[in-house]
Amino acid sequence: MEKNHGQFFSATLYHLFLSTVLALMLMMVMVHGHPMNQAGRLMAFWNDVKNPSHGLEVDDQNLNMEAISLIGDDEVVFTDQVGKMEDDLIQGGLPGQPFKSNFSQYAGYVTVDQSKGRTLFYYFVEAFNNPSSKPLLLWLNGGPGCSSLGIGALIEIGPFGVKPDGKTLYSRKHAWNKAANVLFVESPAGVGFSYSNTTSDYDLSGDKRTAQDSYTFLLNWFRRYPQYKDRDFYIAGESYAGFYIPELADTIIKGNKKASPTSMIQLKGIMIGNGIIDIERDRRGRYDYTWSHALISNEAHQGLIEHCITPNDPKCNEVREQIDNEMGDIDLFNIYAPQCLNSSESLNQPKCRRDYDPCEEDYVHSYLNLPQVQEALHANRTKLPYTWEECSEVLTVWKDRPSTMFPIYRRLIASGGFRILLYSGDVDAVVPVSSTRYCIDALNLQVVKAWHPWVDSTGEVAGYKVVYDGLSFATVRGAGHQVPQFKPHRALALLKKFLAGR
Ligand SMILES: *[C@@H]1O[C@H](CO)[C@@H](O)[C@H](O)[C@H]1NC(C)=O
Ligand SMILES: *[C@@H]1O[C@H](CO)[C@@H](O)[C@H](O)[C@H]1NC(C)=O
Ligand SMILES: *[C@@H]1O[C@H](CO)[C@@H](O)[C@H](O)[C@H]1NC(C)=O
Ligand SMILES: *[C@@H]1O[C@H](CO)[C@@H](O)[C@H](O)[C@H]1NC(C)=O
Repeated sequence: MEKNHGQFFSATLYHLFLSTVLALMLMMVMVHGHPMNQAGRLMAFWNDVKNPSHGLEVDDQNLNMEAISLIGDDEVVFTDQVGKMEDDLIQGGLPGQPFKSNFSQYAGYVTVDQSKGRTLFYYFVEAFNNPSSKPLLLWLNGGPGCSSLGIGALIEIGPFGVKPDGKTLYSRKHAWNKAANVLFVESPAGVGFSYSNTTSDYDLSGDKRTAQDSYTFLLNWFRRYPQYKDRDFYIAGESYAGFYIPELADTIIKGNKKASPTSMIQLKGIMIGNGIIDIERDRRGRYDYTWSHALISNEAHQGLIEHCITPNDPKCNEVREQIDNEMGDIDLFNIYAPQCLNSSESLNQPKCRRDYDPCEEDYVHSYLNLPQVQEALHANRTKLPYTWEECSEVLTVWKDRPSTMFPIYRRLIASGGFRILLYSGDVDAVVPVSSTRYCIDALNLQVVKAWHPWVDSTGEVAGYKVVYDGLSFATVRGAGHQVPQFKPHRALALLKKFLAGR
């Protein structure tokens, strides 16, 4: 299945990312036919090498955003139709499911703005055993504009993945519902099956709207699932969700202060993988990572530092071209992984299936566009005039984003008793481990437990961990940008430790 590559050059996308795109990296993403995946989206977001000033201008303008509340003055509007969870039950499981699951799956819509007809789609899987004693975990993918159902649930952590035929499912051994009840939301409206009947709504998309709508979603979702209202609640995700998640947590904490006891959300912690934190430090971390992992020359690295950190240096374009020639055609989201060169060929390559199949997103695209699958999921009941995409082609404007999460992290840490885990697959070059370390350093936190290896259930060193006063940081050895996709066993082990507070 081929996707339309031309889109990336369109004027709308130009605006979506508020700036020019990182042409070099984008080319690589396009070459392999996945321009609209989470990876591609984030690539486009990194405007820096080409013109660092662009992003910074926008950032400065939005810097004050952290000071003001992410919640506007509008009160959260509960929808009249709470809906019943029984109506959202996926009867008999998903089409193509390998066995009759004994855990329940639900899917449907929760309206976040009734007057506009704006509604978010969710998929909810209860825990494999004893769901009533397990916490509730919300998973969010990034982009901005990518689907937590297509990527998070079907490629990374859900109970099922899609086989190369695009019609049948396999069961995922290290699914996260082995440890929690897991909720996937396609956010914001315009992503996946989530939509608005007022299409001008899409032009108001941005970080603020996303946090506000996600909060409203949760309040209304808990009314449909009252047995989960008092459950310990966690948020996890990756990539651009490095912004979404702290913003939503901050919104929830503020909302809880105003909320009646019945609409409090029992948020206990957040867990973010290869997430963006601070644009400037993330950028420096990328430059150093690509050099230290021998992807670029000393000269190119020097050039990046001299010309591509401070804004408006025309020489940065030359450096970019040099890097383009030096790095060659690799997957920057896992610098050691194979590429998806032809998804119909990988059908006949059983070796791909054993470990990691770079074409999996193509199978997911086929699966979620099957009418019987949409029907089973209670999705797309309004017959949206476009196909389901891994990353939205409907959203063309992204109004606001801050340049750094530091103020929010300081608030979250100060709020106390709140668990924060930043984890990092250490072979990702896009939001690499070095970026996250520079960001954490800048927060200037006291080390509580020094750098040490952590082991998974096999007894192998799965990565390294350091505990600070306020947050923990863990690496996952050998994992790329989507940690659970590349190292499912280690990712589940990390989740279990996080939930257990270890
Ligand atoms: C959007 O409009 C359709 C058609 O009128 C309607 O069936 C649907 O309920 C509306 N969606 C929301 C969220 O209001
Ligand atoms: C589902 O089956 C597994 C064994 O296949 C069992 O361990 C688990 O407790 C069951 N879960 C529920 C919710 O019954
Ligand atoms: C992909 O591989 C199939 C089967 O080998 C072949 O028929 C098809 O032409 C290839 N497509 C591309 C774009 O190379
Ligand atoms: C929704 O359904 C219509 C009609 O069946 C289909 O053409 C469209 O691709 C679907 N859109 C999404 C987002 O699933």
